[in-house]
Amino acid sequence: MYCVRSVTDDLLWVGGNDRQHPLFESAHPVPRGMAYNSYLLTDEKTVLFDTVDRAAQRQFLENLEHGLAGRGLDYVVVHHVEPDHAATLEDLLLRYPEVTVVCTQRALDFLAQFNGAVPKNHLAVKDGDVLSTGRHSLTFLTAPMVHWPEVMVSYDSTEKILFSADAFGAFGALNGVLFADEVNFERDWLAETRRYYFNIVGKYGVQTRSLLKKAAALDIQMLCPLHGLLWRRDVDYILEKYTRWAGYEPELRGVLLPFASIYGNTETAANILACRLAERGIPVEMYDVSVTHPSYVMAECFRYSHIVFSSPTYNNGIFVTMENLFHDLAAHNFQNRTVALIQNGTWGPNSGKLMIQLLEGQKNIRLLEAPVTLKSALAPGQETELKALADTIAADFNT
Ligand code: FEO
Repeated sequence: MYCVRSVTDDLLWVGGNDRQHPLFESAHPVPRGMAYNSYLLTDEKTVLFDTVDRAAQRQFLENLEHGLAGRGLDYVVVHHVEPDHAATLEDLLLRYPEVTVVCTQRALDFLAQFNGAVPKNHLAVKDGDVLSTGRHSLTFLTAPMVHWPEVMVSYDSTEKILFSADAFGAFGALNGVLFADEVNFERDWLAETRRYYFNIVGKYGVQTRSLLKKAAALDIQMLCPLHGLLWRRDVDYILEKYTRWAGYEPELRGVLLPFASIYGNTETAANILACRLAERGIPVEMYDVSVTHPSYVMAECFRYSHIVFSSPTYNNGIFVTMENLFHDLAAHNFQNRTVALIQNGTWGPNSGKLMIQLLEGQKNIRLLEAPVTLKSALAPGQETELKALADTIAADFNT
């Protein structure tokens, strides 16, 4: 049975949700599921914007059949070949063999790699090419590396809609809602939108800024991404978020304390520092990196202005879950942050030096002072070092 929602008089959401797979891209937990958006434009020509992940294939095909209401399918625009959007294309082509696939040349190359052949009917488009479908006019704009090199977005100049591919997406299934103005976005969706951005697209801030520059030249009344909610009001709100995120600018002036702790002593030091910071009125958040998945902690590292990493020394290295976080941060172009460190080691504390080495490879990371060093646990009187670190951070907040 079909399950669709109307976007405009001419546009129908025909996507699907997946609440069964616990991981997106076999990497990122999605406890609230995942939405795979697809849109059907009914004009003099019929145009489908992307297909869906295999997990949502059956629902999507039923939705599409309903939306077409007996008409044929003239075009399918493939904005992005990644299989969470193009996995169902092969089946679509079997059902609608006359459809013309519209995409970039690079996308055709990738489709051949995934499927063994280029679709029989295809139209390779370049940046700025226009396709008229009757009342609607679609302009194709390339958006390489947001999130793969073949990506493009489409602008419907008739209804001023930007089909934005992965950009402006989010983790989370659509539970009946479709538009951001139907939910309490800041309370219920912002964190998962941010986590999606930094884990999926965040490495490509430069390329995202290029897309935002192209978008700034358009009159956008609606954003239709391939995941998550659509924006028909307050478009500037999410554009501003993306401008900040793509510029690696913090959203919150506060201190994040990601810590690893084997026997609780490093955690105690982090807890004491958190108390001293909170007493000074500084917003603080803490995560045990051995408990919370790095996709969450990494997104938080990009949200906060100041970060204090605390780690034991383990096999003469950084504790493994903290080291994983550091590698994840480096892979996503972590930059523009102020940091401090707490290290622990019973006979040879070394994690501080190694964390500094990893941070030195990142752009514009400011280390506030030398690491606070524990030898097994805080020594009597050593809490003054944490108070001093809190004072240093507080002073930095006031500069
Ligand atoms: Fe949602 Fe990069 O695919």
